[in-house]
Amino acid sequence: MDKLLIHGGLPLNGEIAVSGAKNAALPILCAGLLSAEPLRLKNVPALNDISTMRRLLQQMGVSVFDEGDGGMLLDSAGLNNPLAPYDMVKTMRASILVLGPLVARFGEARVSLPGGCAIGARPIDQHIKGLRAMGAEISVEQGYVHARAKRLHGTRIVTDIVTVTGTENLMMAAVLAEGETIIENAAREPEVVDLADCLNAMGARVSGAGSGCVVVRGVERLHGAAHAVMPDRIETGTYLCAAAATGGNIRLTRARPSNLDAVIAKLVEAGCEITREADAIRLEAPRRLKAVSVRTEPYPAFPTDMQAQFMAINCVAEGAAAVRETVFENRFMHAVELTRLGADIKIDSNVALVTGVPRLEGATVMATDLRASASLVIAGLVAQGETRIERIYHLDRGYERMETKLACLGANVRRAA
Ligand code: UD1
Repeated sequence: MDKLLIHGGLPLNGEIAVSGAKNAALPILCAGLLSAEPLRLKNVPALNDISTMRRLLQQMGVSVFDEGDGGMLLDSAGLNNPLAPYDMVKTMRASILVLGPLVARFGEARVSLPGGCAIGARPIDQHIKGLRAMGAEISVEQGYVHARAKRLHGTRIVTDIVTVTGTENLMMAAVLAEGETIIENAAREPEVVDLADCLNAMGARVSGAGSGCVVVRGVERLHGAAHAVMPDRIETGTYLCAAAATGGNIRLTRARPSNLDAVIAKLVEAGCEITREADAIRLEAPRRLKAVSVRTEPYPAFPTDMQAQFMAINCVAEGAAAVRETVFENRFMHAVELTRLGADIKIDSNVALVTGVPRLEGATVMATDLRASASLVIAGLVAQGETRIERIYHLDRGYERMETKLACLGANVRRAA
C-alpha cells in the first residue's frame, strides 16, 4: 500500500490549478444514465472514486470513452443491467446515486445498501422515502434496495434532514417523472446546482437548485448535452489551509471563490490575507495563525469536508479553538493521529478542543478517511522532520495528483510503495 513521505517545515509558495469537483462529477456521471443520447463532460478529475463510478456504469451497459485532459463521453444507449453490486458500493457510498436515475429511465434498480463507513452510519432512508412518495415500489432484501416503477410521478417531498446525495438522487428521479416534483429542505450545495445545470442542458426543467426548494417539471425524455464540471471547492480549501499552516503564499487558478465564503471568512479570521479573482484565489499567510473555532453545517455554512483541515491548522495556531462537528457522528478519527505529531486535542462528544502548540514533530500516522488524510498532510507539511502517512489510498479517492501539486508549491513530498 502506498505511503506519503513528507519533510515538513517549508512554506508553500507558487501557483497551481484546481481540479474538477469530485462531488459534482459523481452525480453528473450518474445523470448520464437518464438519456439514451451521449453526455459529453469536461473537467472530470482523475480520481479513484471516478474510476469506481466509471466501472459501475460500464457493468450496467454504459459505454464510457476517455477523451483526454478531463474529457469523458458517456453513452447509455446500451443500458441493460440496473445493478450496483456490493463490492462497488462498499468502496464508494456515492454509488447510491445510480438509484434515482435507474428507476426513472429503466423502471428498475437493484442497489446494494452502503452500510456503515468510517465516518458514521450514514443511512439512505431519505432517498428511499422520496422515491416511494414518487410512486416507486421499494423493498430491501438481502442487503439490496430493489426499486421498481413503471413511471414515477411528481409529488411534494419534505426531507427530514438536509442530504446532499439524497437531494441529487430525487432530483434525477424527478426529471423523467410525470408532473411536478417539489423537494423541500433540499441541500443547497453548489454541487447540487452543477448537477441541475447539467440536467437542464440535457433538456430537464429544474429550477430553484441552490435554494432549499427545488422544483422539477418532468419531461418525457432527455437528450444529449455537453457540460463542464465545476471546480472542486474542497480541494481549493484544502490547499488554502496547507498554505495558511505553512506560512505560505499561493494562488489557485481555475477556482470559484464564491463557493467558499464560509471557509474564506475563517481563514481571514485566522489572520490570512485573501484576494478573490473571478476564477482564481490568492492566500498570503501571517507568520503565525490565530486559532479559529468552526462549526460544521450544511451549505452555505462551514462544510464538514473542511473540518479536519481546520483542526490541523488550529494545531499550530496561537490560542485555543473549538471544532464542532454537527453533520456526521464519528468524524474525529484524525484527532488521535494528529496527537501522534504532538498536537494538543481533547474530544468531548462532537466537539474537539484544540490548543495550538509551537511545533509539531514528524511521525508515522495512518489515514482513516479522505478528509482526515488531508489534515494529516497539512500537519506533516508543518511538522519538523519526516512524517510518514500510511494508507493514502483514501487521498487518491478525492485529490488529483496531490503530491505533484504540493511539489509544484515547493513541498518536500514523495510517494513510496
Ligand atoms: C455528501 C458528500 C460528502 C459530504 C456530505 C455532507 C458526495 C458524494 N458526498 O455526502 O463529501 O461530507 O455530503 O456535506 O457528495 N442522512 C440520513 N439519511 C439519509 C441521508 C443522509 O440520516 O437518507 C444523514 C447522514 O447520515 C449525515 C447527514 O444526513 O449525518 C448528511 O449526509 P448527506 O448530506 O446525505 O451526505 P452525503 O450526501 O452522503
